Amino acid sequence: MPDVLCTLPLPDAFVARVSTVATLRVLGRVTTASELCAELSSHPADVLCPQLADSITDRVLDAGMPTLRGVCVYAVGFNNVDVAAATQRRIAVGNTPGVLTEATADLTMGLLLAATRRIVEGDATMRAGDFTGWAPDYMLGLDLQGSLLGIVGFGRIGQAVARRARAFGMRIGAYGGAGVRVPDDLANAVRIFESLDELLAESDIVSLHTPLTERTHHLIDEAALRRMKPTAVLVNSSRGAVVDEVALVRALREGWIGACALDVYEDEPRLAPGLACCRNAVLAPHLGSATVRTREAMAELTADNALAVLAGDLPPHCVNPEIGVRAR
Ligand code: DGY
Repeated sequence: MPDVLCTLPLPDAFVARVSTVATLRVLGRVTTASELCAELSSHPADVLCPQLADSITDRVLDAGMPTLRGVCVYAVGFNNVDVAAATQRRIAVGNTPGVLTEATADLTMGLLLAATRRIVEGDATMRAGDFTGWAPDYMLGLDLQGSLLGIVGFGRIGQAVARRARAFGMRIGAYGGAGVRVPDDLANAVRIFESLDELLAESDIVSLHTPLTERTHHLIDEAALRRMKPTAVLVNSSRGAVVDEVALVRALREGWIGACALDVYEDEPRLAPGLACCRNAVLAPHLGSATVRTREAMAELTADNALAVLAGDLPPHCVNPEIGVRAR
C-alpha cells in the first residue's frame, strides 16, 4: 500500500476514506522543515498532508523524492508550500477552496462587530469589575449602517463578506487589482477602487482577504496604515504577513488608526511585541474555518485530493495543474 503522511490528525471523514487505499501515518505535531526532511527521508511517503504552519520547502520536497507525488494542504491558503519547487519536481499541490468561504466570512463579521462595538474591551471591563454604570459617552463605537467597508482582495471570501455587510447597510468598496470581477448579485452594491491608497483613505473599516504572495507581503505597511482614517478599523482574516505587525502595533498605540481585529498573525502563533497590550486590538486564534461542518468539508476535499494523487490523477483542487498527469 502507498503511504500518506499527515502532520496533525485530520477528521474521521479523511481517515475513513484514505486508510482504505493507503497506510496513514500521523506525526501528531506541526513540524519544522528539518524535522519533516528527516521524517520523509526515513519513512518515504507518496502523499504529504501538511498544515498551514508546516513549511514545505524545496528541501522538504527533495527529502520526499522520489516517492512523493502530492502535497495536499488541509487549508485553502498554500503560501506555506514552495509551489514552484513542487512543480519543478512534478509534485501536485492540492488545497481546499470554497468549503470554508462562508465560515470565514462569518468570523470576519464577528471580528468586525467586536472591534467596531468594542465587545471584547467591554467583556474585559465587566470581568474586571470596572463597569460603574451606563453613561452617555461611555465606550462609544462605530455605526456599521452607512460606513464604508473597504475589502482588499475580492475573491470568494471577500465577496461573501460583502454580502453580509450589505445586510448591515454598509457601503462597500473593493480593491482586487487588475482583473477583479464583481458577481451579478453584487453588481450594484460594490464600488471598485482602482487604487489601494484611495480605498484605504476613504474606508471606515478595511477587511483583508488577499492570499499571501510576494506581492501582498506587508501590503499593509506603515505607509498604508498612515493613509487610513484615525478612526478606521483594520480586520485581517487572510494571512498574518499581509500586515506589518510591528507597524500595526505603533498604529494602534499612536492612534494612526482606531482599532484592529485579527485572526491571523505574522509569526503565528506568536504575537508581535506589544500587540497583546493594545486594548484596541481584538485577537482571535485563527478561527476562520473553525466550525465542525467546515472542517469536515475540508477533510473531504483533502481526501479527494489525496485519493486522486494516489490514483495517478491530478487532485481535483490542484494549484499547479501544469505538472500534468503522471503515468500510473
Ligand atoms: C485556510 O484554509 O487557509 C485557513 O487559514 C485555515 O482554514
